[in-house]
Amino acid sequence: MQQVTVLIVDDNEVQRKVIEFNMAREGYAALGAGTIHDALLRISEHRPALVITDVMLPDGNGIELLERLMSLDPGLPVIVITAFGTIRMAVDAIKKGAYDYLTKPFEKEELSLVVRQALQGREQPQDTTRFGIIGESPAIKEILGIVQRIADADAPVLITGESGTGKEVVAQAIHAAGSRRGRPFVAINCAAIPADLLEAELFGYAKGAFTGALKDKEGRFAMADQGTLFLDEIGSMDIGLQPKLLRVLETGTVERLGDTGTMQINTRIVSATNADLRSLIRKGAFRDDLYYRLNVIPVNIPPLRERTEDIPLLARHFAAAYAHQGGLVISDEAMDRIVHHPWYGNVRELQNFIRRIAVFKGSGTIMLQDTAANLPEPVVPLEHQSSPAGESMDEAEKRMIVSALEKSGNNMSRAAQILKIPRHKLIYRMKKFGLKRPDKSA
Ligand SMILES: Nc1ncnc2c1ncn2[C@@H]1O[C@H](COP(=O)(O)OP(=O)(O)OP(=O)(O)O)[C@@H](O)[C@H]1O
Ligand SMILES: [Mg+2]
Repeated sequence: MQQVTVLIVDDNEVQRKVIEFNMAREGYAALGAGTIHDALLRISEHRPALVITDVMLPDGNGIELLERLMSLDPGLPVIVITAFGTIRMAVDAIKKGAYDYLTKPFEKEELSLVVRQALQGREQPQDTTRFGIIGESPAIKEILGIVQRIADADAPVLITGESGTGKEVVAQAIHAAGSRRGRPFVAINCAAIPADLLEAELFGYAKGAFTGALKDKEGRFAMADQGTLFLDEIGSMDIGLQPKLLRVLETGTVERLGDTGTMQINTRIVSATNADLRSLIRKGAFRDDLYYRLNVIPVNIPPLRERTEDIPLLARHFAAAYAHQGGLVISDEAMDRIVHHPWYGNVRELQNFIRRIAVFKGSGTIMLQDTAANLPEPVVPLEHQSSPAGESMDEAEKRMIVSALEKSGNNMSRAAQILKIPRHKLIYRMKKFGLKRPDKSA
């Protein structure tokens, strides 16, 4: 049988060697690191199944390391070792996703027990939690396979899927799985920024390039050199800006605004959209030549309702992440109800739902009645929606806007994403219907 790898992070060498020795005696492959920096290197090389970390480290603290690890792989069990009397630190660690903590001094049997439990309690086989992508449906397994295979290629990737399906998670995974991982992952949302500003953001500019260009500014392409540039909501990119992006893809060079020289860049482009680019092409809103350039490696993430096998894993994962001390589990009836919900808002909607329950309950068991009170009304996206008889277009639109705002917790950008319209359109329509903007208090 293959040995399970355990990483021990502690700058106190004597202490670390003792733990390494004990772990090796228990049959684990024990690795050591003395700093956060070393720990991250070791993790990317060896992908340990469990991490034990001391809190005080020379280049930061164990909680920071924990946070980094949780963002890379929320399923990775991390055991934090705290000094006697720092209970607050321990509570903080648990809140941030640590599996457990041990207070110094501890018995070696105590540690062995916690390690064994953590490795057993891991909700799913290790390979399906890689890079923070949780799921065991055929679709997710296939996506994980693609991520690993394409991580070291430089070809552009286009990720498609409904809002909240995990497009950004997959983009980050592609970056984290390949040799670019030590370099920047730079994200920009093409829907959130007006066209001229987006151009300046992407390409950067020289001082004096336009009124207001008070000093040189580095563009996102350049920032992401040797790394990955994530162009989110690419379908919203202005048609006038699209040829400029196409040129970068064709030539591998960027020109800053107001600058004559060109700069060679090696930036991997990963873009994402929840819009149907082909239909945008038919409408003349998206260039087909750009589409083919971006879509060299297509990755489609199906909606959660089409991969219900993933729902229990995700629900348990979020319950564990948001639980207060003591843990939060889900009863069978509640899980059954959750699995059968349509989740039009996909993983994000499921995540918010569990978070809401965790806020009220803290810890314990999520029962059927807890789901009833917190399950969101299914908000059916525009394209699959039919209006109640007799309702006018305006009434239907207003109802959908109100419900999207409720669902997004009054977050305008999210609401716009749910409705699949640009944010400025949402603002315009809200004005038209006399709806108050939640982000502008009177
Ligand atoms: N497979 C997954 N495993 C773990 N967490 C996930 C997964 N898919 C999505 N999530 C979580 O769900 C939330 C939404 O994911 P993400 O932001 O990647 O979606 P998106 O497709 O980019 O959405 P949008 O179209 O609204 O931008 C995030 O908090 C993310 O961490
Ligand atoms: Mg996104």
